[in-house]
Amino acid sequence: MLKKLAEMIKTSENIVFFGGAGVSCESGCKDFRSADGIYKMNYKYPPESVLSHSFFEMHTEDFYDFYRKYLCFPDAKPNAAHYKLAELEKSGKLKAVITQNVDGLHQLAGSKCVYELHGSALRNYCMKCGKFHDFDFVYKSSGIPKCECGGIVKPDVVLYEESLNNDIIEGAVNAIANADMLIVAGTSLTVYPAAGLIRYFKGKNLVLINKDATAMDEKFGLVIHGKVGEILSKM
Ligand code: APR
Repeated sequence: MLKKLAEMIKTSENIVFFGGAGVSCESGCKDFRSADGIYKMNYKYPPESVLSHSFFEMHTEDFYDFYRKYLCFPDAKPNAAHYKLAELEKSGKLKAVITQNVDGLHQLAGSKCVYELHGSALRNYCMKCGKFHDFDFVYKSSGIPKCECGGIVKPDVVLYEESLNNDIIEGAVNAIANADMLIVAGTSLTVYPAAGLIRYFKGKNLVLINKDATAMDEKFGLVIHGKVGEILSKM
């Protein structure tokens, strides 16, 4: 399997990577749907409902409490998967990383072309004056983070019921449509529209690297069940 993956990478000139929370698990981050994932925790509200626009509106203080506790990983560092992808981009083989993660670890590892489908926790904006605030401004605040102007500072993260950025979707679709190899990793492929972007791939090598099986395994030419950092570090 690893030999086949290495061969595919060697013979491909236009690789695109599509990843999810599992890509950051070897950096110490939790994913959402694994047995020990964020959505499996018992919290005073069903965790998946907290990350929605209506919850943000109705229980703003609880939203930030949950967000700081469970969605922020201030000490996370890029792992072998992030570094290998940045290396493949530098060599000209990999054209884009498309991620559902908001942790900025791909850019920290050196990746330049990164489509953040669900936004980024590193960008936070005042809902009143639009002023930018960094990760620490929100992470180190208590209660509801407020801008100097009095407005609420909201993370630039796409919550349920909110739409994705059209330009980012367009860029991701174009990258996938032009790729000759698509590596999908660390995602349960259960959240749309993100998971639906895979259908735009028309190239030769469609690969899935995931710890657990997904409902879409049989759509892939090569499926490797394992840790993506470990696996890519051997490429
Ligand atoms: N290597 C490879 N795969 C891994 C690893 C790892 N080290 N660790 C976990 N995984 C796999 C798990 O088996 C799981 O199938 O990563 C997958 C993560 O799936 P989810 O937890 O569902 O995360 P994701 O697919 O990114 O969720 C998509 O759901 O709630 C929304 O906005 C949230 O962006 C998130 C979206």
